[in-house]
Amino acid sequence: MAMGGDQIMWKYEKTTQYPINIKRKDLRLAKYLVTQYGGSNGELAAAFRYLNQRYTMPDEKGRALLTDIGTEELAHVEMISTMIYQLMKGASIEELKKAGLDAHYAEHGYGLYPTDANGVPFTVAYFATTGDFMADLSEDMAAEQKARAVYENLIDLTDDPDVIDVLLYLRQREIVHFTRFSELYHEYRKKYKIKNA
Ligand SMILES: [Fe+2]
Repeated sequence: MAMGGDQIMWKYEKTTQYPINIKRKDLRLAKYLVTQYGGSNGELAAAFRYLNQRYTMPDEKGRALLTDIGTEELAHVEMISTMIYQLMKGASIEELKKAGLDAHYAEHGYGLYPTDANGVPFTVAYFATTGDFMADLSEDMAAEQKARAVYENLIDLTDDPDVIDVLLYLRQREIVHFTRFSELYHEYRKKYKIKNA
């Protein structure tokens, strides 16, 4: 969000954070990749987790970090959605049925819907907010590690270089986020003389 004169303007760059050009249709992979959209370790859960927890960080640095990472995760939601759309582009009903996406088609047609790879719908139970900044940061560090691990599992399930390239980028961002959360966690431990975390 940016201020423009007297008006409050929404600033959105009309491009994905990293370029996505998948040329090969792969419904099987689309079915698995959806977990990074609506699964427990996915990008939607990450975005909501950090944007919720930011209010009880004890200082401006913590609130800013959770806002930065939370909004970046929303950009990753957009990237995952784009990838799924490209992987499914032009699929026939027959192809959807063969890939086990007929139930998805029955409910959502060619639309996206946040579920995990097993079809379990997104739920806010995937993240917690305790109001205790050390507990919440511990969750955030674990969440980033789990998201990294799921990206690695997904990389194992494809041989398409156009897909692997983007998954490697997203995996790297999870490592950067983990490092940032970890630095803040240790800084707070010292700054607030926390003995029990
Ligand atoms: Fe992340």
